[in-house]
Amino acid sequence: MNVQLDTDAHTQNHVINSDKFQADVLEGLKNTPKKLSSKYFYDKTGDRLFQEIMAMPEYYLTKCELDIFKNKTEKLTDFIASGNEAFDLIELGAGDAMKSTYLLQYLVEQGGDFTYMPIDISGNILSVLNEKLSVKIPKLEIVSLEGDYFEMLHKAAAMSSRKKVVLFLGSNIGNMNTDEAENFCIELKKNLNSGDVVLVGFDLKKNPHTILNAYNDQTGITAAFNLNLLTRINRELNANFEIKNFQHFQTYDPVSGACRSYLVSLKDQNVKISDEFVEFKENELIDMEVSHKFSETDIIKLAEKSGFKIIGQIKDSKNWYVDSIWQVI
Ligand code: AVI
Repeated sequence: MNVQLDTDAHTQNHVINSDKFQADVLEGLKNTPKKLSSKYFYDKTGDRLFQEIMAMPEYYLTKCELDIFKNKTEKLTDFIASGNEAFDLIELGAGDAMKSTYLLQYLVEQGGDFTYMPIDISGNILSVLNEKLSVKIPKLEIVSLEGDYFEMLHKAAAMSSRKKVVLFLGSNIGNMNTDEAENFCIELKKNLNSGDVVLVGFDLKKNPHTILNAYNDQTGITAAFNLNLLTRINRELNANFEIKNFQHFQTYDPVSGACRSYLVSLKDQNVKISDEFVEFKENELIDMEVSHKFSETDIIKLAEKSGFKIIGQIKDSKNWYVDSIWQVI
């Protein structure tokens, strides 16, 4: 993998179990509508395409959260580091900590007593992160944890009994369906204690054109990002998708806040995947990804349902994105 990339939260998903990948793909394509999981978008090409997406003028999400971390650092700190209490700052899917570096720098300058614990599935990106931070913030104490979010969170909890502050940035929560997001938050809470804090990045509902444009770029990068999963399946699962026979289609429903991407089969066709054949009718869809957008009420409901109380909401200067700060009740 290319460890030079600036990566966002979940983008280091290269190390996958190929049996599970095959089972998920075949099972998903037996559904009606057919379905593939966007968690598999991130092979090496997928990582590069996601970098390109984040740099697109239409894709405002990364810029908004960077605005918060760069320009509202003091406000963020007020919510996560109360008084002189020592704490562990855990980042789920830290990547190269592009945004959190601003917070880490500020906390160290303020003499905060904390250990930074980045969790990521990729050991490679964690070594890059360690190297980068040891130069940028030499006084920072880092304990990197390579592996699955909850396994590592469990490990972090076993390592110290200090207060925990968990960062889950990038609106990655938006890529879960409503039940999955709720279960994720409930599971997160199970790994924490009363008084611990979680900071979650949410993309807010806004003018529907702004949202649709961010996922329906004319340059075709988002289309390539979706189609790349078919190329990955060809390569890793010995399949024969003809990429030109599929077309990206994006929708946004301003009522539910679901921004969904599909691939449309442009003809009747049979695709071989491993030892199985999957039949596609002309205009049949594959449901590829949901990127949920939230109202403040949606966020309040999610926090309440999963046992957290909201203690702060910090928005970017356009009010398009919020880092919501929750405390375990
Ligand atoms: C990673 N995730 C938050 C991105 C999103 O906005 O849902 C993935 C993405 N898909 C298309 N563009 C960006």
